[in-house]
Amino acid sequence: MLKDAGVRIDRKALIDAALRARERAYAPYSGFPVGAALLGESGNVYLGCNVENASYGLTWCAERTAIGNAIASGERRFVAIAIVAATPGPCAPCGACRQALVEFGEAIRVIMANVDGAIEEKTAGELLPEAFGPQALSKEGRNP
Ligand code: THU
Repeated sequence: MLKDAGVRIDRKALIDAALRARERAYAPYSGFPVGAALLGESGNVYLGCNVENASYGLTWCAERTAIGNAIASGERRFVAIAIVAATPGPCAPCGACRQALVEFGEAIRVIMANVDGAIEEKTAGELLPEAFGPQALSKEGRNP
């Protein structure tokens, strides 16, 4: 167990939560359900799953569902996210989700897993080096 921002990361619990969220995925077109569980600094966990659409490009990913769920619940600071799918190895977040994660901090730990127990962990910053983030807008004072 590692400590981040005073919140202990229970990796197994976070992956289990992502697995439960995955069961709720709406993925009739791809048949590829994905689950995510985002741990806030409060200790609360926010679930996400992919939500597909008949207009395929409107699909949103599990990770971004979890982020939206957390933001709508009033939490903005995050410690870790677990992502689980039936990938051959650990499930890596897509490029759009990497961008969505670094918005809230390059230090967020991204726990990538699959349904067979494979696990890999990196930070959001490692997954998206030299990212365009909130700091890029700070010169104009628009950094939140
Ligand atoms: N998907 C996610 O939910 N997260 C990712 O990081 C990768 C892809 C979803 C989108 C789509 O519903 C399905 O997986 C196949 O691409």
